[in-house]
Amino acid sequence: MAESRLFKPWKIGNIELKHRIVMPGISRMRATDDHVPTEMMMTYYGQRASVPGTLVITEGNIVSSAHSGYTNAPGIWSREQIAAWRMITDEVHRRGSFIFCQLMGMGRMANPQEAEREAFTIVGPSAIPWTEGAPVPKPMTIEEIKQAVQDFATAAENAVEAGFDSVEILAGNGMLVEQFIQDVSNQRDDDYGGSVENRSRFANEILQALVNAVGAERVAIRLSPWTKFLGMGMEDPIAQYSNVIIKAQKLKIAYLHLIESRVKGGDDFISTDRLDFAYDLWNGQTIVAGGYTAAAAREIVDVKFPEKEIAVAFGRQFIANPDLVYRIKEGLELNSYDRDTFYALKSPKGYIDYPFSKEYLATVKE
Ligand SMILES: Cc1cc2nc3c(=O)[nH]c(=O)nc-3n(C[C@H](O)[C@H](O)[C@H](O)COP(=O)(O)O)c2cc1C
Repeated sequence: MAESRLFKPWKIGNIELKHRIVMPGISRMRATDDHVPTEMMMTYYGQRASVPGTLVITEGNIVSSAHSGYTNAPGIWSREQIAAWRMITDEVHRRGSFIFCQLMGMGRMANPQEAEREAFTIVGPSAIPWTEGAPVPKPMTIEEIKQAVQDFATAAENAVEAGFDSVEILAGNGMLVEQFIQDVSNQRDDDYGGSVENRSRFANEILQALVNAVGAERVAIRLSPWTKFLGMGMEDPIAQYSNVIIKAQKLKIAYLHLIESRVKGGDDFISTDRLDFAYDLWNGQTIVAGGYTAAAAREIVDVKFPEKEIAVAFGRQFIANPDLVYRIKEGLELNSYDRDTFYALKSPKGYIDYPFSKEYLATVKE
């Protein structure tokens, strides 16, 4: 396995990684009730950054109090949140690894109890709930859309201040930006809906604002064109996502992060829809995630795309294996993940207690 391109250095933005195994955004609901990261989160991210030269992307961070609504998810708008993230980015850097901040707004996915507690209105592109019985979001005004774009830009500046190496917009998995991209959730008839071009506008304006705020080499976007997660799943995603990708390409952002059709959020899903249209359009660093095993990762970087600048993200396996990179490189058995503790609110269980392999421990003297 060590001979695979998976273990050759990889440049992304201004940094050089030592391999192409990435930890993607994974929400774990372990921040405080006020969305402040904790010391336990520092331990968790530090563990997963333990092989030097690893890229860790954080779980989705709420960009502002107006777009909150994910219980115990971290945020990146208050001074306290920025200071707490600084402790975590320092820890990851101390281990010789890198950390990118994933930015999200909840839109119509906001939890109604949280909305009440935090006193914000649940908004979205249109008055379409994600499922029957869910809150009907208030369609955002143009002013609110412009403010949301600004919130993403401010969050990106905050992330850089907190020591993050880059930011990644979560424009997939049913979150606010994707709600604008897809016609199943966006039925607007103004500049932000009604056509492929218009549905891409919110994502594109955010990217542009982030590029202006922190520089293109520090900006990325995550897309899940085929997802059926959380009420998403437009009929013709290829035309829509091609437009988003072509626009992102023009801005020369650092990388494109794609999610395979064979997952639905964090669950396996049967689908044969392929990302080839995206690979054909995008010219540059790419991360792909969704149901990858070590063998499949090797296959895509060594055999399918030997010429492409591609890396593979492992979600569920990174939850259960703090030394995942070492285990894959050495061909060691993986710990199995415990789904029951994925979202165990504020609990250390299933979070910082997955064991390192004895082989990895023998290599370090901490
Ligand atoms: C518990 C859990 C939480 C997740 N939270 C996020 C998130 O915050 N942001 C995101 O982009 N994807 C999130 N995902 C999706 C993962 O990043 C990844 O795309 C998915 O797990 C598929 O990869 P895998 O098959 O390697 O697990 C989450 C997945 C799981 C299992």
